[in-house]
Amino acid sequence: MEASRSAPLEAWLRYADDLGLSPFYLDRAPRPAPGVSRSGSTSVETEVELPPPHRPPPPVTASPPRSAPPSASEPVAAFLPSLTGASLFEERIDNDTLEQIRTDIGPACTRCKLHKARRNIVFGVGSPLAKLVFVGEGPGHDEDIQGEPFVGRAGKLLTQMIEAMGLRRHDVYICNVVKCRPPENRLPEKDEIATCSPYLIRQLDVIKPKVICCLGACAAQTLLNTTQGISRYRGEWFDYRGAKLMATYHPAYLLRNPAAKSEVWKDLQKIMAVLGLHPKRRE
Ligand code: URA
Repeated sequence: MEASRSAPLEAWLRYADDLGLSPFYLDRAPRPAPGVSRSGSTSVETEVELPPPHRPPPPVTASPPRSAPPSASEPVAAFLPSLTGASLFEERIDNDTLEQIRTDIGPACTRCKLHKARRNIVFGVGSPLAKLVFVGEGPGHDEDIQGEPFVGRAGKLLTQMIEAMGLRRHDVYICNVVKCRPPENRLPEKDEIATCSPYLIRQLDVIKPKVICCLGACAAQTLLNTTQGISRYRGEWFDYRGAKLMATYHPAYLLRNPAAKSEVWKDLQKIMAVLGLHPKRRE
């Protein structure tokens, strides 16, 4: 649909979301209950209220929306948002590039309140041709200083995970939902995610990876347009705008809960199977 024609409709749908009408739309997620989650600091079961989508929501293969929570035995797709078929928000920007996105963000973005305390905008790093993209939550202290995602303790663990998959950091692309550090490593807030996530979606559209790996609840909930806790669908495959998307636990969570590493390794092995990768041999 032409942007000029879709804009009023999109604005109306956002307004309908604000009124709590979204469950009546087949391709809109129900409004979530407010909650807290910061993958660097809270439990994996916590949930976050997401903004209404202002960009194309992902075509999660799912059955119709529901209000009751699922039972443990129900398939994952039964409780994620129903987004079958073409969405109103499916447009992609023709001839977009990572450099154009960086230029559009600008060197001194002030679009959200995160700009006040940040030192560097952390755009993303890696191969623009990557078959695998890792999406985290937002920069932490070290990332803010260095201007590169996942370079602190959690980042070192992510690097080990990537290498265990038989890859190197420059083979993949690494980015975050928000590009500026939330103060005190708090969760990115609804308005911050709403402001910044369109740039993430453009990055994913440009790179067109085969697989997107969401690290933690914030990335998964943002891209899947759900409020469900990550442990409900971790390790499951979803369709995201032509890519295969899987959520796994955030490396910061693994630093606090090393026992969960085996679960994450199982998830990474599923990704490796799709990408035809073989684990790195131990020297
Ligand atoms: N945690 C994230 O989610 N992203 C980073 O870049 C670093 C830590």
